[in-house]
Amino acid sequence: MSRTVRWGILATGGIAERFTTDLLTLDGAEVVAVASRTEASAKTFADRFGIPRAYGEWAGLFADEDVDVVYVATPHHAHREAAGLALEAGKPVLCEKALTLNAREAEELVTLARDRGLFLMEAMWMYCNPLVRRLAELVRDGAVGEVRTVQADFGLAGPFAADHRLRDPAVGGGALLDLGVYPVSFAQLLLGEPDSVQAHALISPEGVDLNTGMLLGWDSGASALLSCSLVADTPLTAAVTGTLGRIEVPRGFFFPERFTLHRDGREPEEFLAGDDPHSFRHEAAEVMRCLRAGATESPLVPLDGSLAVMRTLDAVRERVGVRYPSERGAH
Ligand SMILES: NC(=O)c1ccc[n+]([C@@H]2O[C@H](COP(=O)([O-])OP(=O)(O)OC[C@H]3O[C@@H](n4cnc5c(N)ncnc54)[C@H](OP(=O)(O)O)[C@@H]3O)[C@@H](O)[C@H]2O)c1
Repeated sequence: MSRTVRWGILATGGIAERFTTDLLTLDGAEVVAVASRTEASAKTFADRFGIPRAYGEWAGLFADEDVDVVYVATPHHAHREAAGLALEAGKPVLCEKALTLNAREAEELVTLARDRGLFLMEAMWMYCNPLVRRLAELVRDGAVGEVRTVQADFGLAGPFAADHRLRDPAVGGGALLDLGVYPVSFAQLLLGEPDSVQAHALISPEGVDLNTGMLLGWDSGASALLSCSLVADTPLTAAVTGTLGRIEVPRGFFFPERFTLHRDGREPEEFLAGDDPHSFRHEAAEVMRCLRAGATESPLVPLDGSLAVMRTLDAVRERVGVRYPSERGAH
């Protein structure tokens, strides 16, 4: 059960560096190859992390028999293609969030993985964080009663230069897929897929969402008030309120160091994180646990949950009028 899992890293940007740094601190994890669109980037990345093989095209990584699992760290628009090619080559995949550009692409990937009996997981590391799992468990066990409202936000002030990928519609830029996916995933972890979605956004001249407010509703009467932004340094907090009390998560709700449970008539109860709240080790360890157990899906980040989040993100974009270039002309 402790067999080494040999990783292949696809793309050499910011998150690939942070993920690989954390991955290499895990027992039983090895990084055997990296692929980039250019040989120079692959080589620089490989030298930096002591990775034995560097490919200047993705195909080399997919054909590498020593690679047990591929980590896809490209911008969103390339997730479908990169993860799809990896799965077609028989490789299990951990794919960065948001899983794809839209729900249609996500369906295609999930179908491919399921048809081939291969592991696929969205890199929604928040769902693997032990303290977030504890929070969800408390809510499921009724600690706050029936959930009535969820609030969560993820906004950064930037500024992001006009040529930054976050401003580029062609690569799935905007606040929603990079940042909004966290508050939406948080609300859906606690309440499931919403029955209604409303949204309002400031749209950039390039056509991506810069500042987005979302109101999700459930037939139970519960609602979630969520936001994401590339132009405002928002609190990055979350709160869940139910009929018997509430949970408050301070700044950094997607990798919390603590949260507080307030229940009517009782002293507030504080829950603290263990080591490493801001680490990608938890999600990497979950992937390795699943692969060793022969599981094709993680119970912590289920594919049906990722699909449901993608449907909500689609609905938000529809409400605010954001369509990526590859979707134009599509129905
Ligand atoms: N989990 C987290 O906390 C977290 C944090 C940040 C970002 N992310 C996610 O990770 C993904 C990448 O974000 P990032 O911040 O790492 O972006 P980034 O720094 O711009 O890096 C993305 C990398 O993808 C490759 N790439 C760039 N343009 C491409 C294109 N047109 N087609 C194919 N590949 C391309 C490049 O690598 P090569 O030159 O080697 O090909 C580039 O270095 C996004 O999905 C984002 O949402 C997750």
